Formats: sequence, structure tokens, C-alpha cells
Amino acid sequence: MNKFEAANHERLDLSVLEANLKTRRLGKAPGWDNELWDTIDSTNNRASRLATDNCPEGLIVLSRHQTAGRGRQGRFWLSEPDAGLYLSFLLRPEIALDELPLYTLAAGVASVQAIWECAGLEIGLKWVNDLIAGGKKIGGILAEMPGRASSTGMPALILGIGINLRLEQRQIPPELKNKIDCLENLAGQAVDPNLLVAALAKHLETQLDLLAQNCRQQMLDSWRRHSITLGKYIRAVAGSTEIEGLAQDISQTGGLIVRTKDERLVTLHAGEISLRNADGSYA
Ligand code: BTN
Repeated sequence: MNKFEAANHERLDLSVLEANLKTRRLGKAPGWDNELWDTIDSTNNRASRLATDNCPEGLIVLSRHQTAGRGRQGRFWLSEPDAGLYLSFLLRPEIALDELPLYTLAAGVASVQAIWECAGLEIGLKWVNDLIAGGKKIGGILAEMPGRASSTGMPALILGIGINLRLEQRQIPPELKNKIDCLENLAGQAVDPNLLVAALAKHLETQLDLLAQNCRQQMLDSWRRHSITLGKYIRAVAGSTEIEGLAQDISQTGGLIVRTKDERLVTLHAGEISLRNADGSYA
């Protein structure tokens, strides 16, 4: 039991969540119902199947537990029952493939705003998809483009978000013990998952509207404000190449602009970065 386990601990409940949705599109896919599973392999997998089955934009797939939750680069995502939020938004934006990072960044900004609103906790954004608090990872974003809708050929974008809500020490594998934490532990209070999802949907819709209205600068500025990446020395591994340098800015398509030791500007579009600690090590 974690220290906030109490009678008033809310669990995900679709009717409570939907009653709190203050969105126009997200969670309101015309003619299709949002889904809440007790257990599922991965909400991203389910949303991808719905996308090829012609489900329109807006549907949210949630699960209390995932048996094959996925992180970036094929890693597993810890998805213990009711210990986190595991959800995927099905979107149908008109985007070029190289703009995919923008949607990951937009989901990051929405997560910061929703967590602040519902838990009073300040989260930092580590490029490209990590949600960090107290130096540890508390969540992440997985953006994927599955196959096109079978009847219309429309492309889809699945934005999967995982947030650790209330993890007990015994649920954390030893190799992750020093690396991850959860909202309730850091916020010192119980967090209602229904309100958090409703807030996520509201803030994500706002950020997506900015992208759709050619106002990406506003979204990028919000990301910059909450970044714990810019201004830091980073190491990145992209395939067989390793790059070290100063994370200088974010590009117009969400890439990370790095100034290398030999003063070259390199833009990373994908891959994993580590931030340099005060002692010179990278984490
Ligand atoms: C990462 O940081 O590597 C991304 C983690 C994304 C996890 C979420 S949980 C809901 C959705 N379904 C999945 O299988 N993955 C994403």
C-alpha cells in the first residue's frame, strides 16, 4: 500500500471522466465511444486497430493495466494495475512525417499543464518525450503512425501517454528504482485520474489547435519554458553515431538543435539523449 492509499482514492471511471471533459473534439469522436479496459496489451495497439477500422479523430483508449505497455525504442512500459495512467488519443492531423516530434512536444506541454492543474506539481520536459520531476522519470509519450483507415485511406496519429500515479516500491523493478517516481509521492496528495485525463485532453486540444492554426511558435515557446534540456550539455546516440554538445534550441519541426564542441550545429530528429550531471557523468 502506498501512503496515500485511502478510501477516497479515485479509480478511472469513464462516466466521471466524460462528465469532466471540457473539450470540443478530444474524447468526443462522432459516433464512437471512448474505451476503458480493465486490462489490455497496449492502449496504443488498440487505438491503432481502431484507426485502421476507420475510427474518427478524438477517441480515447484507456486501460487500468497493460500487459505489453510499450515505451520508445521498443522498451517495456511499467503498467501495474491502477498504478498509472495508460491512455492513447487517436488523432487524424494532416502532418508530414518529419513533423511527428511536434506532436510529442505538444503532448509534453499538455502533460505539464494538466499535472500542475491536478497535482500542483511542476514537471520538466526532457527532449523528446520524457516527463521528469525530482530528477526522475514520472511519465512518457509514445507517438506512432499506424496504417491508414481501410475505407478512406486517411492517416492517423496515435499519441500514447503513460504517467506514474501511485507506485509502491515493490512494484518497481530494481533497475528502475533510482530512475522513476510517481505523482502522488512527489505531490504529497492523492490525484484523481479522471480529472487528470480530462485536464490532459483539454490542454492537448489547445496545443493541437495551435499546430493546426499555424501557431506552432506558441507551442514551442511553452515547451522551451518547461524544458530541462535546453542550455544543458547532452550526449545523443543516433544509430552508430554519438554526438556531444550544448542543447541550444528546438527547431520548427521539434528537432533538438545541438552545438557540438567543434561549433557545428546539428539537429537531432529522433533518438535518445542523456543530460550531463554536475560531476560530468551523463544520465
Ligand atoms: C516512453 O517514455 O518511452 C513512452 C512511454 C509511453 C507509455 C504509454 S502508456 C499508454 C500507451 N500505450 C503504450 O503501450 N505505451 C503508451
